[in-house]
Amino acid sequence: MDKLVIASGNTGKITEIKAILNELPLKVVSMKEEGYNPEFDEIGATFSENALIKAKTLNKVVNGIVLADDSGLEIDFLNGAPGIFTSRFAGENVSQEEKNNKIIYLLKGIDKRYRTARFVCSIAFISNSITFTVEESIEGIISEEPMGDAGFGYDPIFFVPEYQKTFAELPEDIKNKISHRAKALAKLRQKLSIIYGIKPG
Ligand code: IMP
Repeated sequence: MDKLVIASGNTGKITEIKAILNELPLKVVSMKEEGYNPEFDEIGATFSENALIKAKTLNKVVNGIVLADDSGLEIDFLNGAPGIFTSRFAGENVSQEEKNNKIIYLLKGIDKRYRTARFVCSIAFISNSITFTVEESIEGIISEEPMGDAGFGYDPIFFVPEYQKTFAELPEDIKNKISHRAKALAKLRQKLSIIYGIKPG
């Protein structure tokens, strides 16, 4: 079975990507599991540019199929921030709890109507024969306080109206059906189904 190497060191992302792509006829592994640890120069202006930068950087050292995820949170009240800067938001060496609290602080006292936000996920895929990106998003609301322990990153402050729960309160299998990442990976599967003749899933 061919390997698909994920260009990420983020264990939350890797766990989700592996769970969502588990039926592909590819062995999905992280770059660290394969002994790679390249530096990514995320100088792109969009999620998809950054996803491509990561995939191309890894593809230079991996002789095979690679996939990269660039994702983040766009908050309407903050004019789309933190966007592509989501992971560096609030500075280097800042805990996730502090990042979540900073967002809650910036939106303190703001009515629910104006707390709208979305998670965006761009996935870049590179194999010997093809390079492409897909992008998806999910709409939500920034909660007034962190809720739930599941998932990773900003999950405790991202409230999904349809389920009346934050991502961190949702069971893993539900998040992995509805999330920005799940939807982008479904699009990827759709493309791969045409290219490799496999089920779209
Ligand atoms: P990247 O690794 O440069 O793509 O940064 C992604 C940022 O968005 C990190 O801070 C992640 O914690 C956050 N992020 C992306 N996807 C999710 C998610 O599904 N839940 C919570 N945070 C996420």
